[in-house]
Amino acid sequence: METVLPDFDAAYWQGRYAAGRDGWDAREVTPPLRAYFDQMNTAEQPRILIPGAGRAYEAEYLHQLGFKEVFVADLAPEPLAALASRVPSFPAQHLSQVDFFKLPNDPPYDLIVEQTFFCALNPALRPAYVQQCAALLRPGGTLMGLLFDTDFGPVQEPPFGGTKEEYREYFAPYFEFRHFETATNSLRPRQGRELFICLKKK
Ligand SMILES: C[S@@+](CC[C@H](N)C(=O)[O-])C[C@H]1O[C@@H](n2cnc3c(N)ncnc32)[C@H](O)[C@@H]1O
Repeated sequence: METVLPDFDAAYWQGRYAAGRDGWDAREVTPPLRAYFDQMNTAEQPRILIPGAGRAYEAEYLHQLGFKEVFVADLAPEPLAALASRVPSFPAQHLSQVDFFKLPNDPPYDLIVEQTFFCALNPALRPAYVQQCAALLRPGGTLMGLLFDTDFGPVQEPPFGGTKEEYREYFAPYFEFRHFETATNSLRPRQGRELFICLKKK
């Protein structure tokens, strides 16, 4: 019989933050994302979206580098408040408590940053995640980040794992693969268990 998962809604995520059940939180920008951000050019001021951003250390880092068009979206209020309190100069109007699947695509984004958001979604939503990323990006826009290439077993709540082969099928209709390989500079507990992806919207 197929297992029906509950809704992982705003109350679920807020509850996990409130209970300190936030083992995904790296407390800093992770090395693969930091290395990518370090080679980006602030002169271009790309429009960047970080969905399911949590406490959004990536947004903080990009803001410190001088990127001004960084937008953070999350269902739960706690992590957004945490970013606002840590980084008072981050523009409040760039923080949205919103469902990723309801974000408008006008104007489109140049870059979407993925960090433990895909694995937080009910796996049934994976095709919709990929379609929404494609809808939110301009043609030639980039989806970059990390995906767990790990089996977490028959779990009933996030994180949900998967394989490179499975993921490739979701992305192939919408994206060209620039990079889709095991990350070489992961945080130690994630070493060998995550893919660094850099995909260009067709
Ligand atoms: C596993 S956490 C990862 C947070 C952050 N990316 C990190 O690495 O610390 C998943 C995050 O996605 C958010 N989230 C879950 N479903 C969402 C949705 N449909 N739209 C926006 N955010 C969502 C949760 O509130 C949570 O903050």
